[in-house]
Amino acid sequence: MSVLWTIDDFLAGTHGRPVGDMPEEITGISIDSRTIEKGHAFFAIKGDNFDGHKFVRAAALAGAAVAIISESKLASLGAVALPLIVVSDVLESLELLGHAARIRSHAKIVAITGSVGKTTTKEMMRVALSASGTVHASVASFNNHWGVPITLARMPADVDYAIFEIGMNHANEITPLVNMVRPHVALITNVAAAHLGSFKNISEIAKAKAEIFSGLSASGTAIINHDNPHLRLLKMRAKKAGVKNMLTFGDNKKANFRVRSVKRSPERTEVEAVIAGEKIDFTLYVNGAHMIANALAVLGVSSVLGADVQKSATALAGVAAEQGRGQRHLIKLSNGILTIIDDAFNANTASMEAGLAMLGECEPAKRGRRIAVLGDMLELGAFSKELHEKLVEPIVTNDIDQVFMVGEEMLALKDVLPNERFGGHFDSVVELQSKLLKTLHGGDVVIFKASKGLKFVPLVEKVVEAFKKKATEVIDS
Ligand SMILES: Nc1ncnc2c1ncn2[C@@H]1O[C@H](COP(=O)(O)OP(=O)(O)OP(=O)(O)O)[C@@H](O)[C@H]1O
Ligand SMILES: [Mg+2]
Repeated sequence: MSVLWTIDDFLAGTHGRPVGDMPEEITGISIDSRTIEKGHAFFAIKGDNFDGHKFVRAAALAGAAVAIISESKLASLGAVALPLIVVSDVLESLELLGHAARIRSHAKIVAITGSVGKTTTKEMMRVALSASGTVHASVASFNNHWGVPITLARMPADVDYAIFEIGMNHANEITPLVNMVRPHVALITNVAAAHLGSFKNISEIAKAKAEIFSGLSASGTAIINHDNPHLRLLKMRAKKAGVKNMLTFGDNKKANFRVRSVKRSPERTEVEAVIAGEKIDFTLYVNGAHMIANALAVLGVSSVLGADVQKSATALAGVAAEQGRGQRHLIKLSNGILTIIDDAFNANTASMEAGLAMLGECEPAKRGRRIAVLGDMLELGAFSKELHEKLVEPIVTNDIDQVFMVGEEMLALKDVLPNERFGGHFDSVVELQSKLLKTLHGGDVVIFKASKGLKFVPLVEKVVEAFKKKATEVIDS
């Protein structure tokens, strides 16, 4: 196991007071005793539901090398079979360590924010930049007040590239996070109605995303989506933040990283792109126009960071769709192939539109249908009704044959959806599930999409499982 921190650097970084026999080195950072590994430092952070100090013993049993605890909890902790590092505030000590990691690093650093596509783009970028050097990146969606500092603290000293996902639900959340990361490139994937309930309007969301520019140094580069309606506002905000290098990606001819042509087949998408004036071709085995946009952003970042753009482009062929983010199950039934697109991880207006467009690109077999199984988009506040009604436009444009729905907010869509496209509205996911099991058949292409709160991930799993039992052959991609 490689050394992440020598104990001296770790103690200096956390500003902690050692109690007990210190290990020589730290091999990893953890805040969850269930996923801790031998040699890790356990930070006893207080989360929304739990206080990490309750799990110090569990961390010791799991092989932690040391626990970082609060001075105020030391007395009540009793005897633990683990050396301790005592600090005044555990989260703050993680931030301080993150700061130390940033200072010692020579990596080229990217920060990604946006209403949607952060994780997808980050994972694509990980694959692309790995062709040019070693890469460190956030785990899953570790993008908040603890996710960002933990990702920094986990950054190996000698890594070539580091990619940070930065998220937000409110204004003023991104500023402190990007100031910890201090990226060379700041990327905004897009701006859309997500968490709109916490904002006056969508321009306020754009302004909050633009906070990411405040962490760029004078020589840093901002990359934004040319096709986003908030382009002008973002450009103005970048200028105000003192950003001199501003580049764009998208379909627009004026974009610095743009598409020239796209050739789609059911298996793959072949793209001719222009990246900073250079013609670059690449192949994607993930579907949807949104994936092409993400790939352009990734190649733009590669080019700005001086990575080998051609190698990055070639590596993109190795990107696979993840569970909940476009993964496909092709299930061969007696009456044809049933295609299930699992896009159920989360939903807001942008990812709903992207998902419906992706379904529109699919050609169902004879007697097959394009089917959208949709659940509420949550946290849209006063805008919810209007934004759910508006879904009718992409449903009609993409010629979706049947829409099945669940959730209170979806009633707004039900009211405006043409009758022939209405498959049913259900009071619960359980009722929806039993209807789907009776209705879906070979030839259909089905997409699942809803906010996390609707619990569509287990729904997809159950539907896929049920049809796989009847299948003669299954291809998961
Ligand atoms: N550029 C894009 N535009 C629209 N939808 C996208 C885009 N990229 C990915 N998606 C879809 O949006 C959903 C969420 O993607 P992803 O997890 O990458 O977003 P995120 O910004 O990381 O979300 P979170 O804020 O929950 O961490 C997925 O279903 C994915 O297929
Ligand atoms: Mg994410």
